[in-house]
Amino acid sequence: MSSTKTISTIAFSTVLLCTGLTSAFAADETLRSLAEERHRYIGAILNSEWFYGNIEAEFEQIHKTQFNAVVAENEMKFDATEPNENTFSYDKGDKMVKYAQENGMRVRGHALAWHSQVPGWVNNYSGQKEKLLSVLKNHIDSVVGHWKGKVAEWDVVNEAVNDEYDAGWRSSNSVWYEGIGPEFLDSAFVWAHAADPDAELCYNDYSLEWGLREKSKASFVVEQVKRWKENGIPITCVGTQTHIEISHETTPQNVRALAKALAELDVTLNITELDIGFPKGSADQLGAADYAKQGHLYRQFMDVFLEEPNMGEFVIWGLTDAHSWLDDQQGKTQGLLYDKQYKPKPAYDSIMVSLKAHPASEVKSPYPSSQFNPPCEGDGCGDSPDAVVPVTASKFSAQISGRALFIAGAKSAKVDVFDMQGRPVFSAKNVKGSVELQGIAEGLYVVRVRDGSASLTKRITIR
Ligand code: XIL
Repeated sequence: MSSTKTISTIAFSTVLLCTGLTSAFAADETLRSLAEERHRYIGAILNSEWFYGNIEAEFEQIHKTQFNAVVAENEMKFDATEPNENTFSYDKGDKMVKYAQENGMRVRGHALAWHSQVPGWVNNYSGQKEKLLSVLKNHIDSVVGHWKGKVAEWDVVNEAVNDEYDAGWRSSNSVWYEGIGPEFLDSAFVWAHAADPDAELCYNDYSLEWGLREKSKASFVVEQVKRWKENGIPITCVGTQTHIEISHETTPQNVRALAKALAELDVTLNITELDIGFPKGSADQLGAADYAKQGHLYRQFMDVFLEEPNMGEFVIWGLTDAHSWLDDQQGKTQGLLYDKQYKPKPAYDSIMVSLKAHPASEVKSPYPSSQFNPPCEGDGCGDSPDAVVPVTASKFSAQISGRALFIAGAKSAKVDVFDMQGRPVFSAKNVKGSVELQGIAEGLYVVRVRDGSASLTKRITIR
């Protein structure tokens, strides 16, 4: 980015941060719409409370409007999906997959082989290599098989590296490593690939944002990824969890360096669990400057994310400070984009500003553009799905107000509305002036207006 642009975007961001309002953005602009224009995914977990219907109504409304990727906080983990041997429990995960399909969102599956949240019956086989291999294989075959074609990406192995200065495999308190040895990782990737050859497969871990010094966790992971690639192990992505604190100012640049190292290996880097917490107990003393600093750090991560072509998903480990593992388990607080009353914080504005400062034409994506576009049919459409990538109005414009779509400058227009998965949900011919978009649920859509050879495609939010 040029220095002029950096200065002007900082000024823009300061203005927005001072207002603390999102009204500086157009009504139909959301994190999701801006990310989609850039062919990227932005996500937030569905907290466990959501799965039990025990969360405020605002949660889901904001979640599906602002994000196009979902992850279950706990409900696809080993203990949740196979609580008893060879007895699988998919209800909660199915609920999330249905929600994702209805709202055109990408699903991350989290997580298959992890030392934590393993049910007691697995630990009872501790040290029995053959048995543990068959338990892990059966789990991966069943779970990945169940959601084949519906879960786009799996965290195949989670947190397998230790926290030593001289990083190596986590060799204690891991039933998989202790019983099987390091080959459990290689096998897990191979089995997951066999169960769903189209799914992306990630290695996911924390503290990767501490940099690529010699012997660091990040360097160790890069070395292993290199070995996996050389040996034909089907890994396609690394996830950096990125649970950080407000004082960790150098971490965005470390993530950039990691992305570049993985690009050499043709592997995507995803931010999978971002939160930027303040020390627990400090909430009452936090002021505008603290939240601006948090916003600045969030923004730096988004800048890196958009500028590195092999980064694909930016996922936050929660939506509102009212529901966050930070307070309960991490001695931290207030680490997310929305406050406890669901009001967007400066961090929200900051990442909107970052998205807007990186024009779609300059952001590269690891994903095919067809993942982000509605179908193209009828006159004026080429063979490529890119034919309906948002275009600026040639001779007319369209505005949504409630459910009324107003069209200026068209004599007799054909209006088509698609959901975010590209399915047609509304169509009307001979529209003059305005049309009521009947029978569409609240949410984000793409509307296409055509009049003769002129065509306008834009995203709208129905409220
Ligand atoms: C956390 C959940 O947020 C908590 O509800 C649960 O009690 C423990 O796990 N790294 C991971 C996530 O990979 O699965 C963890 O989620 C947070 C750290």
